[in-house]
Amino acid sequence: MTQPLKATMFVDRRMTIAEVDKRIYGNFIEHLGRAVYGGIYEPDHPTADEDGFRRDVIELVRELDVPIIRYPGGNFVSGYRWEDGIGPRDQRPRRLELAWKSIETNAVGTNEFAAWTRKVNSEVMMAVNLGTRGIEDAANLLEYCNHPGGTYWSDLRIAHGVKEPHRIKTWCLGNEMDGQWQIGHKTADEYGRLAQETANVMRMMDPALELVACGSSNTRMPSFPQWEATVLEHTYDSVDYISLHSYFGNSQNDAPNFLAKSLELDRFIRTIVATCDFVQAKKRSKKKMMLSFDEYNVWYRNRANKLKERWQVAPELLEEPYNLEDALLVGCMLITFLKHADRVKMACMAQLVNVIAPIMTETGGRAWRQTIFYPYLHASRYGRGIVLQPVVDSPKYDSAEFSDVPYLESVAVFNEDAEELTIFAVNRSLEDALQLSCDARSFAGFRVLEHLVLEHPDLKAGNTAERESVMPHNRGDAQVRDGIVEAQLPKQSWNVIRLKKAEA
Ligand code: AHR
Repeated sequence: MTQPLKATMFVDRRMTIAEVDKRIYGNFIEHLGRAVYGGIYEPDHPTADEDGFRRDVIELVRELDVPIIRYPGGNFVSGYRWEDGIGPRDQRPRRLELAWKSIETNAVGTNEFAAWTRKVNSEVMMAVNLGTRGIEDAANLLEYCNHPGGTYWSDLRIAHGVKEPHRIKTWCLGNEMDGQWQIGHKTADEYGRLAQETANVMRMMDPALELVACGSSNTRMPSFPQWEATVLEHTYDSVDYISLHSYFGNSQNDAPNFLAKSLELDRFIRTIVATCDFVQAKKRSKKKMMLSFDEYNVWYRNRANKLKERWQVAPELLEEPYNLEDALLVGCMLITFLKHADRVKMACMAQLVNVIAPIMTETGGRAWRQTIFYPYLHASRYGRGIVLQPVVDSPKYDSAEFSDVPYLESVAVFNEDAEELTIFAVNRSLEDALQLSCDARSFAGFRVLEHLVLEHPDLKAGNTAERESVMPHNRGDAQVRDGIVEAQLPKQSWNVIRLKKAEA
């Protein structure tokens, strides 16, 4: 029998990073593939509610406790005419949808989506089209959504049966505008100017809006990170966030290297923080720019639109079957966001249903949880409170692209109101268990509530409609001795150690 690896960790209630903004557990629904049609909306489905939304999907989304959902894209938004999706359904146009080469029926639009987010106890993060459209359309959409009444667009919303304004607070100014693939793609100067002018007009209508400018589509873009610097030079005073997008894959089938990819995410965040702070210094500004990681996930198996036949309604696109190793990397990504809680204030997993998603559905049939559902669920449920600065000493390994990769990836969150301390931990080792010893002596009187573990002997195991074989159990062995949390983290596992102050 091999000896377990040993790692130590130290957390102290006075050594804090920041309070978690719950919006880091956000998600994303784009008019793409079966995310909307056959995903959240399917009027003929046996569980459909009075508005045509699938109740089985609503239940799963509620389980995840998703605080904010980005909509309607993604690449889709850059060709979208939002007016197509309002008013009587039978009068809405069917359109060629150029981003994903599909047909958009417009059966679901702004009002339907806002109503659905309320059903799942969430709120909308609305993206405006800065590809084919611009300032005026963004202003009209804002007026339609948020103005109480007595103007053309707000009265039209009321005439469409929606008396109360949607009060959407967070708005994305376009999507991935640096990408050649983006409809209406722009240079950094062109986009920066347009984003700044659009932001200014939107703020004239409501100064309290929170606005997100587009950062680079990914770190491999030739203009990264000069794009961010230029865009922020234009928009620094007018926006609150710059966006980041990252998708990771394992096409080389090299698990140790794949599991280390959250280190790249960490480097990405540090680079953007440095870029924001550079522009802040140049502008002699008091304002700190925050980060919105509004697209992240594992995505590599179904990247391209492989359909032979174009122009279908809700074709199967980007339906990624996730396995245990994907869930472990998603866990590491969530831990990384928590470690940057002082600057990363929003993050949206991309996406929520069917399209690179934690929730899958059969059109007309079942819905189920993919492996990545679980780290996301646990972080969203238990990762609320103050993030503590983790001091970690872990054995390390080298992989094809990374040096000094710690086997242990971990962070702790203290929820003062509930008097709960939660340690999230991934053991990246594919061979050995890891013995964790976490000094938490500043949490006197705390006891282990449960130690949840997501593990499976087969790293490639995944879930299907028939069988959810990768599911967490609560048979982890964590215990507290004299303020030290001792736990064995099985090889290739995601762990959630929940502690609570014992009743006096
Ligand atoms: O999430 C899928 C796509 O990935 C989005 O439409 C786009 O923004 C990104 O490239």
